[in-house]
Amino acid sequence: MAVDVLLGLQWGDEGKGKIVDYLAPKYDYIARFQGGPNAGHTLEFDGIKHVLHQIPSGIFRDNKHNIIGNGVVLDPVIFMDEILQIEKKFSIELTNILSISTRAQLISPVHRLLDKVLEKNKGDNKIGSTLKGIGPTYQDKIGRHGLRVGEVLSENFNEKYKKQKSYHDNFLDKHYDQSFFNEERKFFESIEKLKKFKIIDTEYLMNKNINKGKNILAEGAQGTLLDIDFGSYPYVTSSNTTTAGACIGLGISPKKIGNVFGVFKAYCTRVGAGPFPTELFNDTGKKIASNGNEFGSTTGRARRCGWLDIPALKYSIMLNGVTELYMMKADVLSDFEEIKVCIGYNYNGNDINYFPSSIESENIVPIYRSFNGWTSKSNKAKKFEELEENFKSYVRFIEDEVGVKINLISLGPVREQTIYIN
Ligand code: GDP
Ligand code: IMO
Ligand code: MG
Repeated sequence: MAVDVLLGLQWGDEGKGKIVDYLAPKYDYIARFQGGPNAGHTLEFDGIKHVLHQIPSGIFRDNKHNIIGNGVVLDPVIFMDEILQIEKKFSIELTNILSISTRAQLISPVHRLLDKVLEKNKGDNKIGSTLKGIGPTYQDKIGRHGLRVGEVLSENFNEKYKKQKSYHDNFLDKHYDQSFFNEERKFFESIEKLKKFKIIDTEYLMNKNINKGKNILAEGAQGTLLDIDFGSYPYVTSSNTTTAGACIGLGISPKKIGNVFGVFKAYCTRVGAGPFPTELFNDTGKKIASNGNEFGSTTGRARRCGWLDIPALKYSIMLNGVTELYMMKADVLSDFEEIKVCIGYNYNGNDINYFPSSIESENIVPIYRSFNGWTSKSNKAKKFEELEENFKSYVRFIEDEVGVKINLISLGPVREQTIYIN
């Protein structure tokens, strides 16, 4: 009677979508618990590549029920676009296999506009937001004047929208233009379509099914180092991306959490601004980016690349209570002569082995350990035993350093390019 949680341990884009889709046949329910369309979760199967932003990644497996929990922020325009694309491309009828929480917050055109204006006003201190309105929507939620999905069913939804918008009119007045009014029109059209979905108190659905012994997987978005409390603040997203966020974002007790699957890349990437101790600015960084095709799934921006950071990984494992580690994109590191791993930092002149709460890139210098590389022959392996010795040493070194077993190694974007280790 437990909910398993799958989440990212770095700065997002670890490959969560691929693994949720891979694991989904074992589960009855897949539930998103935080974030919104800032997420881009990529799935590849049967020669098709598909990126999901709002919809949980269990959608392509038969008979799985998918839930958008109360902790999520939902953009009805993006959501309906996604639904239409999927229905057209895959001929799946989604209204019966998707439930949305009455308590999830609605992203409106006002939030997207606020995101744009606030980012612009930050000048050199831009976060590099995806500009999907995430921060302003969570701000309104905490400010206690957010609009919730359940309210779309109310007869006076238009008045509620106007009231909510009025909180921002003074600040935004000069930015309301024709394109904003067009977005507002699309917003209301999408709201009408959204009403066809099951909009329910999903906390009851969750708990009823936990008590029935159903298998539930909670799907994280973003990554631990983007968590609003524990990430590299202020260069973070606006939700709790950690295991605790799954309890709040789905309405379940911490006692109901089972396994926690921590997904990480065999190296590190980051998209957007903010500190990144192991970032590489040389040809090695470029080679990782090109081998890994490191471009954002939501914005198309180039991702910054660097070596694996063990203190950061240990920190994320600690915060989340990770029980199994899943190492992604290990194929990207093949054919490197030397591979480095950061095992500590020199921070303001002192050697440390933890992830500090405040990092300026200038005052933190990674301490590396070197490994001999392996070849792309390993990328065809179907079992751990078939990997080259240098690859296996890399895996065992990480396990020894962090004290948690690596139970899955991903060697390509496609479902089948996955080794599960019991
Ligand atoms: P998510 O946000 O955590 O779901 O990750 P994204 O989908 O944003 O980014 C991961 C990218 O890497 C996607 O393009 C995936 O198709 C791809 N990918 C996932 N696993 C692997 C892997 O093991 N090897 C390679 N080469 N690509 C992978
Ligand atoms: P998935 O789920 C990678 C980053 C943005 C920016 C910061 C704040 O695909 O792993 P926001 O739009 O949330 O205000 O942006 O967080 N960011 C992500 N980076 N993967 C994501 O999601 C991200 N979602 C947000 O680039 O630096
Ligand atoms: Mg992504």
